[in-house]
Amino acid sequence: MATLKLILVAGARPNFMKIAPIIRVIQSRYAGKIQGILVHTGQHYDYEMSQAFFDDLKIRQPDYYLGVGSGSHAVQTAQIMIAFEEVCLKERPDIVVVVGDVNSTAACALVAKKLGIKAAHVEAGLRSYDLTMPEEINRMVTDVLSDFLFVSERSGIINLKKEGKPDSAIHFVGNVMVDTLYFELARLDMTDPKAQQPTEPFAVLTLHRPSNVDDEEKLREIMGALAIIAAELPIHFPVHPRTRQRLEAIGFLPGMENIHLLPPLPYQAFLRLWKDASLVLTDSGGLQEETTALGIPCLTLRENTERPITIEEGTNMLAGTSASTILTAYESFKTSGGKKGRIPELWDGKAAERIVTVLAEHYAIR
Ligand code: UD1
Repeated sequence: MATLKLILVAGARPNFMKIAPIIRVIQSRYAGKIQGILVHTGQHYDYEMSQAFFDDLKIRQPDYYLGVGSGSHAVQTAQIMIAFEEVCLKERPDIVVVVGDVNSTAACALVAKKLGIKAAHVEAGLRSYDLTMPEEINRMVTDVLSDFLFVSERSGIINLKKEGKPDSAIHFVGNVMVDTLYFELARLDMTDPKAQQPTEPFAVLTLHRPSNVDDEEKLREIMGALAIIAAELPIHFPVHPRTRQRLEAIGFLPGMENIHLLPPLPYQAFLRLWKDASLVLTDSGGLQEETTALGIPCLTLRENTERPITIEEGTNMLAGTSASTILTAYESFKTSGGKKGRIPELWDGKAAERIVTVLAEHYAIR
């Protein structure tokens, strides 16, 4: 084959840091041999949720911006599919590469397969087995459709084999999110005048899962528990747009004065903040992994995780979503000084290199 033609898809905030190292490897190692066409679906569109990450991570501008925006799951997924099909028909790529578990991931894998184009899934095989999570549905659908399954932790191999995927499709490559973390940490600018770190010990919070923030009672309960924690350990909280809408609807809550609300932060500013935190509280998928990679204790505000390695080997603990379980987990953090962990296998900053090598070798590109 003369040139291998890939379409790389990114749509929502957690996709951008996963796509960045793959683009870097293609540009630096395979220029002229692999063509990487970048498609941004526009699932996330606010400057802070999207362009700020392109700027920070120095991702080149997308070749196609589909501008789909918000909507119900059906509307958003359908609009991505309609717009992405046109791109695929025009470009006729050899492979469509999707990352993570957002609506853009599943929508674009489905379009590719129906056009007879191979699909590659980066971060395959992760399972919470909780089908009330839209991301779990996206993960399962994407993996069923994908020809190349790039796995970030060993549980992914086990899950995919259980689902009948052949060994030849499964590639254990490590974690592209960690590639970006190490890369950005090495060039973090601590002299930036905006880099004002809190001087006292602090915690960092992120919260945006629909199951935690969409239900008013649940959100009140979680914020109530967090306010108790914040009285001892101030919490810095960059607020996702979904969560901001909900918090504004319920108004100011008692104890919130120790929870410092911030806008969504760009990658580097957020990293600068959380890398020095004593504790991270989160319901995000990625941050469970990132805290394990940097050895920072993490309490996950969920009942389950699709990333079990962060619990088995890393610094993560499931804290549940009720006030009592969150406070119990916090007490255990205080008495133990936080869970210690080790860095999981192949989380070494070279996952993207492995991914692109697998694809290149498959098509005999050297
Ligand atoms: C999506 C992903 C989730 C991921 C999260 C990270 C799915 C199903 N969910 O959830 O896996 O962890 O992104 O952020 O794909 N909004 C804005 N500005 C934006 C983007 C969204 O205001 O730039 C608002 C929307 O109007 C909507 C809400 O935020 O009300 C939710 O956005 P959406 O993309 O539907 O889902 P997320 O909750 O962000």
